[in-house]
Amino acid sequence: MSASHLNWPEAGETRSARWRSESGAPPPKRVVLADDSLTADAAFRLASEGTGMLWRGDFQNARLLLQALARRIDKPRKTKRAKADTPTPSSVDNFNLYRQAQSQRARTLAMLLIEFDGAHHITLRRAPDVVQACSEVYGAGDTAQGNYVAPLRELQGLIGAHEWRKKGVAIAALGGDRIHPHYGVFAPVRGDYMELLAQAPLPPALSAGGVAFDIGTGTGVLAALLVRRGVARVVATDTDPRALACARENLARLVPGGQVELVQADLFPEGVAPLVICNPPWVPARPSSPIEHAVYDPDSRMLRGFLNGLAAHLAPGGEGWLILSDLAEHLGLRSRADLLAWMDAAGLQPLHRLDVQPIHPKADDLTDPLHAARSAEVTSLWRLVVKTVA
Ligand SMILES: C[S@@+](CC[C@H](N)C(=O)[O-])C[C@H]1O[C@@H](n2cnc3c(N)ncnc32)[C@H](O)[C@@H]1O
Repeated sequence: MSASHLNWPEAGETRSARWRSESGAPPPKRVVLADDSLTADAAFRLASEGTGMLWRGDFQNARLLLQALARRIDKPRKTKRAKADTPTPSSVDNFNLYRQAQSQRARTLAMLLIEFDGAHHITLRRAPDVVQACSEVYGAGDTAQGNYVAPLRELQGLIGAHEWRKKGVAIAALGGDRIHPHYGVFAPVRGDYMELLAQAPLPPALSAGGVAFDIGTGTGVLAALLVRRGVARVVATDTDPRALACARENLARLVPGGQVELVQADLFPEGVAPLVICNPPWVPARPSSPIEHAVYDPDSRMLRGFLNGLAAHLAPGGEGWLILSDLAEHLGLRSRADLLAWMDAAGLQPLHRLDVQPIHPKADDLTDPLHAARSAEVTSLWRLVVKTVA
């Protein structure tokens, strides 16, 4: 989180407050006061040039203004007809343009700002009570800490996350039991890969009493699923303290027998296991904010780290289960040949592969620039074993 301050002119003096942005956005260099008299077109011009608008009007009107800004950003633009000799952009170029547009959109929408007191209260007309939602992400509030300013769009993300956390996500593979994701922790909303994990036959080496490792546990959903499948003990790791706190809460409810041990570790815990599972981020590209770390991973660092360390952490006869979407292959960001070569170089060979076509909420959206790649996407569970020397 960015820890800087924000200054603005108000009532003849310069006021200042702490700046908060979980997405790591820097504070806008110039800030003006804005209220219900500001038109959407004027707000769009200010936001596009990077001027922050600190809202002093009715809270619900700020919400409407944000929607109006989003509509202006999303309005389809007339594109110039390409010259006959212009090369067609590759999938990688399309993906990069899409990501650039996404981050420009996020920057523009982050220009509408809300002031909070240190205890997470907003003093605007018709403002909701967001104390709980903010405390879950920013920590307990305290008026003595002074006011802070954050983008309204970020606040909406916090409120959305709070609702998800309260309501939870029903997991079919857990008999409909719910996982309650925390802010910034990968939410298992796409159940497809859990079905793969529920179907794959447990390795014979995982005899009664055996331990499995769950690398990058997130909400703890896969660790819970392994225990439900009869695995006696699971050691689950993650590097993200938010994920570990979230997994601890979910597992206390779903696995009350304490069969899952949570460890903060980069990839593997100590020792070996007859089953090691991992669902790493699947798009090798730079995350545009810390909360995208579960999906975007530059150079497939976690995937390659998992493959390279797997053989050393497998007990004799053990299996590594890699859950991986091939979206990156359809986007031209990684090839199947690369993946197979990494497995081979790590001394591994695929024993079997289970595939599923994910049901993606955007798969039917023809206006989505990544439509072709998303509609062809397949998620696989690769059962990997240590290569046998011929
Ligand atoms: C795609 S999410 C999967 C979460 C969960 N296993 C699931 O399937 O829903 C990837 C997880 O790996 C974690 N992670 C990323 N790099 C890691 C590393 N080097 N070691 C351990 N965990 C890592 C992230 O924090 C995130 O929780």
